[in-house]
Amino acid sequence: MKVFINKNIPEAGIKLLQEKGINFTINPTENVLSREDFIKICQEHDALLNVGTNKLDEDFFNQCPNLKGIALFSVGFDSVNIPSANSRKIPIGNTPDVLSRATSDVAFLLMQSVARKSFFNHKRILNDEWGSFDPLSNLGQELYGKTLGIFGLGRIGFEMAKKCKAAFGMKIIYHNRSHNQEAEKELDAKSVDFETLLSESDVLSVHSNYSEENNEIFNKNTFAKMKSNAIFINTARGKFHNEDDLFEALTNNIIWGAGLDVTNPEPMKADNPLLSLPNCCVLPHIGSATYEARNGMAVCAAQNIIALFENKKMPFCVNE
Ligand code: DGY
Repeated sequence: MKVFINKNIPEAGIKLLQEKGINFTINPTENVLSREDFIKICQEHDALLNVGTNKLDEDFFNQCPNLKGIALFSVGFDSVNIPSANSRKIPIGNTPDVLSRATSDVAFLLMQSVARKSFFNHKRILNDEWGSFDPLSNLGQELYGKTLGIFGLGRIGFEMAKKCKAAFGMKIIYHNRSHNQEAEKELDAKSVDFETLLSESDVLSVHSNYSEENNEIFNKNTFAKMKSNAIFINTARGKFHNEDDLFEALTNNIIWGAGLDVTNPEPMKADNPLLSLPNCCVLPHIGSATYEARNGMAVCAAQNIIALFENKKMPFCVNE
């Protein structure tokens, strides 16, 4: 059995694979492989440890009939066509929990960056526009006692809610398919319908798993239902929001600001109009980019691969 790792991962994961005597190849180039080359190499391997957003769709599975399992280097598994994997009984592993703190830290950071216009104010210095103290300029808003609305309260959303409650005494509402008992008990979080989430959130933070049914659910119509002081935060997937509609909502003061760690599409180009707005802060998908989280992800991915080789159930399997 041979594993293909399409991009180097932290040593912690590599060491685990070596200790178990797993036979693996790491993509020797720094470059992202073309789809054609990626598929060609996957055809010669039994398992894939996949870093990044390669589309693992029906066509991919058709072309790689030898694959027996895939360990993703991510918690999100929207890059995989799960029914295609299921029909071939291919287990798909992900990396839950280990990045919840890091990703929610970025949501929290963006929330405050937008509330206090930090990116915009930083640009003022770079542009030599600091000027003199003005009691009426560059005012932000405080978050104390405001309402945090979470779209998709799972592990990452829970961490975000905990921080917002502890730091600002924020009231927590959330919209999920099912109740999050832990959040209700520990944080007094209230489950609400989507319309209420839109109309009552001062900060609306997206933490859901992406699926087609929620494609661009944050759009012209839904932004219009939000408060004019609302801050929209997305650290989950860019496909949850429509970027043109967000630009319009931000320029017409339909909502107050937005903080994005994910864009639609990615990567965002430097001339994207959102980057010119004073009320929008954008980061290049760095939610899990800490030593701690990335080491944890490497370990989870390696554990999934090892289980596959030992004919056991992957410890972090999304489809079995
Ligand atoms: C994840 O783990 O899903 C992060 O978004 C990194 O891709």
